[in-house]
Amino acid sequence: MTARIIRIFDTTLRDGEQTPGVTLNTAEKLEIAQALARLKVDIIEAGFPISSPGDFAAVSEIAAKVRGPVIAGLARANSKDIDAAVQALKKAERPRVHIFIATSDLHLQYKLKMSRGEVLKATEEAVRYARRFVDDVEFSAEDASRSDRYYLCQIFTAAIAAGATTINIPDTVGYTTPDEFGALIRYIREQVPNIGQAIVSVHCHNDLGMAVANSLAAVQNGAGQIECAINGLGERAGNASLEEIAMALATRAEYYHAAAALDTRHIYRTSRLVSVLSGVVVQPNKAVVGDNAFAHESGIHQHGVLNNPLTYEIMRPESIGLNRNALILGKLSGRHAFEERLKSLGYELDGERINELFTKFKELADRKKMVFDRDIEALVTEKASVTPEWYRLVYHHVVSGNQTTATATVRVETERGFTEQAACGDGPVDAAFKAIEKAVGFPVCLKDYQIKAVTAGEDALGEATVWLEQDGKVVSGRGLSTDIIEASARACMNAINKLIATCGHPAAEKAVGGE
Ligand code: KIV
Ligand code: ZN
Repeated sequence: MTARIIRIFDTTLRDGEQTPGVTLNTAEKLEIAQALARLKVDIIEAGFPISSPGDFAAVSEIAAKVRGPVIAGLARANSKDIDAAVQALKKAERPRVHIFIATSDLHLQYKLKMSRGEVLKATEEAVRYARRFVDDVEFSAEDASRSDRYYLCQIFTAAIAAGATTINIPDTVGYTTPDEFGALIRYIREQVPNIGQAIVSVHCHNDLGMAVANSLAAVQNGAGQIECAINGLGERAGNASLEEIAMALATRAEYYHAAAALDTRHIYRTSRLVSVLSGVVVQPNKAVVGDNAFAHESGIHQHGVLNNPLTYEIMRPESIGLNRNALILGKLSGRHAFEERLKSLGYELDGERINELFTKFKELADRKKMVFDRDIEALVTEKASVTPEWYRLVYHHVVSGNQTTATATVRVETERGFTEQAACGDGPVDAAFKAIEKAVGFPVCLKDYQIKAVTAGEDALGEATVWLEQDGKVVSGRGLSTDIIEASARACMNAINKLIATCGHPAAEKAVGGE
């Protein structure tokens, strides 16, 4: 029996960006969209164009530059939203307008204050209106899993008659269970008379930890598209995790008789990129992409895996692009070998970016005995490349000890030239952050700070993440170094530059070297 193809609709950049504390700027969204295209997702939901000028710009940029997947923009069921989505998607090769309206009585009464008849009419009009501009229109019945089934079927029948090419059934609040959701999908497929003219999609939230199971139950009952997000990002507890869906379909193909057309070898690095840019750390025991997903702690397991990996591994790490311990080049390695290694890790980068990374690699190889693939991946995903640098940390000097007050001096390049500032703090990291704050000349609100090692060993690369808040928006910055104070100072500087890229500069200066 040949496998049915399941379309993968990635919503990392739309629902995923609704994760509390996540703000991505246009350059970062573009970088993620390009990674999703390499992963070969079928549809990228690039954003909600009417919701903010930033979202509009990001959808336009992705529509203009990313080739391969369909690019979707979200819209409520009204002409203003649809116009914005159509406009933002103008340059897309294959644009999709994704219209949604709530259908549960709860939402109709307390949120929309509309009758069932009014929502039905709005649905028909919105879908018909969008079809004047694009051939590909998806319609979502928000809170479908808590909507009246009979009404839901009426809505979908009307949406398809008006021209919807995909109908989406969201479990908006993550309330349903696999059996119940599977039965709902079957019911809709049996009761909607024109269902054959549309693809049936599902969009599951993870409030009870069942988003992936619910999505797969839908596949077993005929769904042809799954909406999901990298690392399971999304509102509240998030969306179904793309990597878990992908590997469940790939690993249990004979059971589901269904397959996604993804290049799963890009899963691991896409997960890392999204984690780094969103600042949302992947829990170590997360299925598929967590640090422990392929780690075998017990001696019995290790022995079994050495004899035959199938004893305790249902998937090969290589199938998600993870080659954990691959030792790469030493400090004598040349640029060509470095470029080849980047290619084999799946990074197709331009010459200028390779040169920049090669310089960083050489610096790292000088400080660290062994450079692993994960170090290289950390260098590639270091954010400075996509965020214009309003400020650049030239050097830092920190004095600390258990009998002395920690003091830091920093030299920072700004639009006006160089500035040097010193500050005392509660430990060396605090002192460095305070000196940086003085140098940029405006207060920064530190929300959180984290440091971890990229690989094992005492000379491991330290990866610091700093979260800053301004105007209710939280952005994360990342810094890498074998010296954890330097990694922390770089992360702070990166977060400041990102904050400016996202919220604007408090004093409207220009970037040092940015465009
Ligand atoms: O969760 C939801 O219902 C949504 C819709 C906009 C598809 O995100
Ligand atoms: Zn959602």
